[in-house]
Amino acid sequence: MRVLKKFFDQNKKWAEKVKESDPDFFLNLSKQQNPEYLWIGCSDSRVPANQIVDMLPGEIFVHRNIANIVAHTDLNCLSVIQYAVEVLKVKHIIVCGHYGCGGIQAAWENKEHGLIDNWLQNIKDVHRFHKAKIDMVEGETEKIDLLCELNVIEQVANVCHTTIVQGAWKTGQELAVHGWIYSVENGILKDLNICITNSNEIPDTHKIK
Ligand code: CO
Repeated sequence: MRVLKKFFDQNKKWAEKVKESDPDFFLNLSKQQNPEYLWIGCSDSRVPANQIVDMLPGEIFVHRNIANIVAHTDLNCLSVIQYAVEVLKVKHIIVCGHYGCGGIQAAWENKEHGLIDNWLQNIKDVHRFHKAKIDMVEGETEKIDLLCELNVIEQVANVCHTTIVQGAWKTGQELAVHGWIYSVENGILKDLNICITNSNEIPDTHKIK
């Protein structure tokens, strides 16, 4: 029984609307996907990748998890990156965080949350790496906002440190890794002005020669 009937009704209307402007849209898309972008974002329902950059199905390959983490041992995220880079040959990887992130907030606090605390350790590490910088900022909201930004920057670095991305650069594949942050308060994306395009920008400790 279709308990969530409105989903199916809305889907039918949406598909019809897309077909109105391009009758072959789904037929063409069914043959292949050829996205140029991999989006690594937060699972937060307020930050849907395609919608906030007004892109259609087929344009962005997406991975989302709590607080847009790229953990070195996360086979899920690494598999997505490998497929995107090696098979789809995306030209850009975007790590997009957002202000007001519940995951960042939870990692900021010293409360117990159960299993998820293990995941949040990744953010606590970011806090520890940049503690001096965060301590210098006035106001708790401002500190947490900065942690949201620093988390994006660290996850961009984690993407770049993978054997997948370094391997692509080694073979001359064009690939840029970007760090962006989104505001759920006004719907606006901000570029954190990080754009890593080759292994010269990777610290020696992580460079694979
Ligand atoms: Co979030």
